[in-house]
Amino acid sequence: MNYKFSEQDDGFQAIRFNGQRLQLLDQRRLPAEEVWLDVNSADQAGQAIADLVVRGAPAIGITAAYAAVLAARQRDGDVAGWQADMAQLEQARPTAVNLSWAVGRMCRQVEQSGRLDPDALAALALSIHRDDIAANRRMATLGSELIEPGAGVLTHCNTGSLATGGIGTALGVIVAGARAGRIAQVFADETRPWLQGSRLTAWELARAGVDAKVVVEGAAGALMASGQVQWIITGADRITARGDVANKIGTYNLAVLARHHGLRFMVVAPSTTLDPDLESGHDIAIEQRDPAEIWRAAGLETAPPGGAAWNPVFDITPSELVDVIVTEQGVFRPPYRFS
Ligand code: MRU
Repeated sequence: MNYKFSEQDDGFQAIRFNGQRLQLLDQRRLPAEEVWLDVNSADQAGQAIADLVVRGAPAIGITAAYAAVLAARQRDGDVAGWQADMAQLEQARPTAVNLSWAVGRMCRQVEQSGRLDPDALAALALSIHRDDIAANRRMATLGSELIEPGAGVLTHCNTGSLATGGIGTALGVIVAGARAGRIAQVFADETRPWLQGSRLTAWELARAGVDAKVVVEGAAGALMASGQVQWIITGADRITARGDVANKIGTYNLAVLARHHGLRFMVVAPSTTLDPDLESGHDIAIEQRDPAEIWRAAGLETAPPGGAAWNPVFDITPSELVDVIVTEQGVFRPPYRFS
């Protein structure tokens, strides 16, 4: 059976915009509390993105598009000032290409029309958001159809409604696959140090009525050896022309382990995450974050304070380890060539 979508399957909205006002569900505080944060400027939006109030490649892009509208209202026709706001906003996080893609689309609209029209920008931002919802649906259908009934899957980080405009990328495939009766068991990798897997993915799956087991990252090898999973399904922050995938740190480990155990590795991402201007994953800028994030996982001191750390938050999975890439445009298999 394949899954037929209805509107309530689009998940929930973690980004609210009514034309004048932008609100973000603060993902740092989930699952303990659901707190909405008001964002009143491009500067505040950039800070919210950098601080992980909102995270996940498509969600960052959508937030930036709405922030561009707020900035246009404030700049009141000052195109150069608005462009400076956009240049700053684009710097909030470097790895997810959706951020610069969304800012680029907003900038092109202003360049082409030659003026700062907040209503026209709002219409464009809304269409970016709606297109992401539609892409999520399409990917969920395409990806879930690849999974044989009875399969177990392991996912990493959070790729659901919190990370996108709609049902999600990898998590959309998983929810659709579970509802279609294809996926029998879901495992969510806890995803250190921010615990997007245990805090956010487990919370979203419970909301969606899909049973899931959280595993610590160190359990992935044992889990794969146990025969309980057949697919590893992740999202992406950037995919190069040759199909190398930047995603949450730990994704590469899973791909290597999956290949060793003869399991399949699926990457699910909208075409807005493709970056055909880059050939190799080595060309992708990997964000490095504050070592203190490692010291204070989940609010607990987990290491002696003041020490050093290496804290890259993304890694590169070479395309050779990726069995299939699903976008809203179709199902791609190696050798990949995105243009
Ligand atoms: O640091 P994060 O939480 O923004 O990292 C998110 C991820 O790595 C996701 O897998 C990726 O953005 C895809 S989201 C649909």
